[in-house]
Amino acid sequence: MERILVEGGVPLMGRVRIKGAKNACLPIMAASLLTSESVILEDVPDLDDVRTMSRLLRSLGVEIFRDRRNERIFVNSRRLTTSTAPYGPVRRMRASFLVMGPLLARLGRARISLPGGCAIGTRPIDLHLKGLGAMGSQFTMDDGYIEAETPCLEGTGIYLDYPSVGATENILMAAVLARGSTVIENAAAEPEVVDLANFLNSLGARIKGAGTPLVRIEGVASLGGGRYRVIPDRIEAGTFMAAAAISGGDVIIENVIPQHLSAVIAKLQEMGILVEETGKGFLRVRSRGRPRAVDIKTLPYPGFPTDLQPQFMALLTLAQGTSVITETVFEKRYMHVEEMARMGARIRIEDRAAIITGRQLLQGALVQAADLRGGAALVLSALAARGFSEIRGVHHIRRGYSRMVGRLRSLGGRIFILPS
Ligand code: EPZ
Repeated sequence: MERILVEGGVPLMGRVRIKGAKNACLPIMAASLLTSESVILEDVPDLDDVRTMSRLLRSLGVEIFRDRRNERIFVNSRRLTTSTAPYGPVRRMRASFLVMGPLLARLGRARISLPGGCAIGTRPIDLHLKGLGAMGSQFTMDDGYIEAETPCLEGTGIYLDYPSVGATENILMAAVLARGSTVIENAAAEPEVVDLANFLNSLGARIKGAGTPLVRIEGVASLGGGRYRVIPDRIEAGTFMAAAAISGGDVIIENVIPQHLSAVIAKLQEMGILVEETGKGFLRVRSRGRPRAVDIKTLPYPGFPTDLQPQFMALLTLAQGTSVITETVFEKRYMHVEEMARMGARIRIEDRAAIITGRQLLQGALVQAADLRGGAALVLSALAARGFSEIRGVHHIRRGYSRMVGRLRSLGGRIFILPS
């Protein structure tokens, strides 16, 4: 298996351009099932999760091609050949479940392998089923698959007990072609949900209120085709901002929407990191020595994003003072803690809270990534640690970061991929 080798202690300097958002691409690719017209998506990063979604769509009969030169993909779902999503992609990627809403809307049925849990928690789908059930779908479980069927999706009012991103997206996609209107209360307001709604509206859907807890959808008979550019990845941006900070560097981050990073920018500034907008879509991040300790609580958007919790924990292990991180979104998103401890980090877990006692230095070590964002966090710790670190589990990182090692090296990081 590939490994990442890092020699820490080098401040990152220079400029890095942020790519399209993984968590917007995946639902938007699933949403392309809703139309039989052609769709061209721009700024689709070359990620393992995007390849997994492409394979899944192809297995349903979708024509999908990538133009490698410019991160563009062409999708046409005119001829769907099956409503069954195979076990492989669904096991590998929970976001595969996002094809359920579109398949019900297009074909009136869907058969999807139950998504596995993963390193960060059980990841139930009860809210997805509650919403789709309220619209007239029936479900049966059979041999590890969930089968959904509906004579016709009917618009209705749906209250989500938790503002689940995936459930909001699945219900939104089903409602677009349902008969009548649907109202989702307590909907997720993440920018990626807004991007999905904007994409669907560009094809002729009638969605209002995306980005607020109250979303209204008027069902339409069909959607057209078109071209759509995906928003920049705020989580990738936040990861590179933390990399600049933890390495004591000075980096310009290009192609960002600062409004999507308000909580992240506020926390960095609270830590004493300099963050300034140097132009439209440009942020400059400069470290001024050891960061100050701060407390962080992860929350649904616009709160601090859970997907940046591990990366900011890495930063706080080097802070002056003691910080408390409270992870409220997932019950087990601390798999990176023991690995950071191998580098000398002082972290104590008490239920959902991580108490971090900052240290002056970390030592390089051999560590193992267990999930995507935890793996990214270990890379950040290694960039700051003294000496060499080896990070295993690179495949986790490849799911959500395109060419992370090469881009960090272009900022001066001494970081390399070791072949298996
Ligand atoms: C999306 O996952 C993202 N993935 C995750 O990013 C992100 O961490 C998460 O939203 C929260 O922001 C994609 O967009 C592909 P949820 P999702 O449904 O939709 C509970 C990454 O690293 N819940 O908002 O699965 C659930 O257990 C990934 O890029 C239910 O109880 O997240 C969790 O505790 C990791 N019942 C909480 O809600 C349900 O039916 C948040 O889950 C659904 C969810």
